Amino acid sequence: MHCIVSVLALAALQVGAQTTEPTFQANNVGGGGRVSKESPHFRIFGASSTQADAAVRELEVAYTCFIGDLGWRSTGLSFNDASNRGPYSKMNIYGVSSLGAAAGQMFSDPRTGYSYLKVVTRYIADPAVTVHEFGHALAYHEKNWVDQQRTGAWWEPMANWVADTFMTSPLCAKARAQYNQPEGRTQIDLNKVIGSSHQTIVDASTGSGNYYQSWPLLTYVTNNPDKYPNLGPTTVREMMRQYKQKSNETPLHALERVAQSTPIQTIIGRYWARMAYVDIGHTQAQQLFQQLKTRINYSNLDSTGSGTYRVKRNRRPLYMGASIIPLKGTGAVTAKVTANAPFTATLAIRSQNGSVRYVDLANGAGEATRASGEEATLVIANTPSSLALYDAFSITGVVAQGLDYQVQLTGATP
Ligand SMILES: *[C@@H]1O[C@H](CO)[C@@H](O)[C@H](O)[C@H]1NC(C)=O
Ligand SMILES: *[C@@H]1O[C@H](CO)[C@@H](O)[C@H](O)[C@H]1NC(C)=O
Repeated sequence: MHCIVSVLALAALQVGAQTTEPTFQANNVGGGGRVSKESPHFRIFGASSTQADAAVRELEVAYTCFIGDLGWRSTGLSFNDASNRGPYSKMNIYGVSSLGAAAGQMFSDPRTGYSYLKVVTRYIADPAVTVHEFGHALAYHEKNWVDQQRTGAWWEPMANWVADTFMTSPLCAKARAQYNQPEGRTQIDLNKVIGSSHQTIVDASTGSGNYYQSWPLLTYVTNNPDKYPNLGPTTVREMMRQYKQKSNETPLHALERVAQSTPIQTIIGRYWARMAYVDIGHTQAQQLFQQLKTRINYSNLDSTGSGTYRVKRNRRPLYMGASIIPLKGTGAVTAKVTANAPFTATLAIRSQNGSVRYVDLANGAGEATRASGEEATLVIANTPSSLALYDAFSITGVVAQGLDYQVQLTGATP
């Protein structure tokens, strides 16, 4: 894998070393019209000049970060261009008065293989909308997730990850600086991600789903604070490139393939353990957690007496979801978790200075000692021994089965 990464990096360098970037041609895909603003890679229609200026700046930052720096396939290349040699085309973005319930939408033109965006005009300068839709275009031009039912719901966390990375990540800091684009405020919804951590990891159920909120998993595998081999800045791109074509597998299958030697259960278990204190390499999100934590619903357990607890029926972690259980008390803590199915349990211990250490509970059991000022959280993730082929629009069967567990604690109470 290291080999492949360096080959890709080399290819990107060679592109960067070209003396002239290919010229991106204008097209009228999506209808054309009067151009409000044109930039090297985009054309904006139907917006005021102030709105269009902001939109092209944001889109050029996103283009520079994702395609230039992180090596995604260019949105200027036709979907149908198997050689990836061009010609290159600008993407059209249309400001429109209404899109039904949506603020923005990505469209593709199968004949030319180009994508275009429609954005309700008053949102066209809002990166949470326009860069989100550009994220869909990135996914479209990477090709392998297209027309696969089981990737369908994952287009939303992926696009929100693109928008949040654009706004807040050090990975896009160089591109932001190049265009004088200030850092934005994260859209992370910790009340949903942590307060409903028991849900299936990506769940697109109408009304109750988490598919717009579940993107911090993608931030975690991108920032890779655990330094697992093969994970890092290009992981989300690789979850598309290494997606087995026309397999209708889930993106987690692709992540498992990308990660190679690290079991997917370890990755998901540690992701949730790190969400105990939002220790995923995202500074704004971690600060927000410290402000919001007292308002998050942590009501996961019922006492069954003598320091034993059972997970509430409606909080049993579903497929690749978790219970996050802050513990009270000081000094030594022991935890012993038992369940009817495989799980990954971890104690996350946060010191006063904000650093967090993680104690894996082998076979569900383990202990740790909280030093003065340290706090601990027990995290139990439902990590079945093999991945499920599931459609996040239909949470039924194995991915709707909760982990029914009990836990015995000494030295701590939930
Ligand atoms: C927190 O979650 C529990 C378990 O689902 C529920 O019974 C309780 O009403 C919730 N509390 C609040 C304040 O929403
Ligand atoms: C924070 O505290 C922990 C535990 O006392 C220590 O190991 C770590 O080095 C400290 N980190 C910083 C940045 O001071």
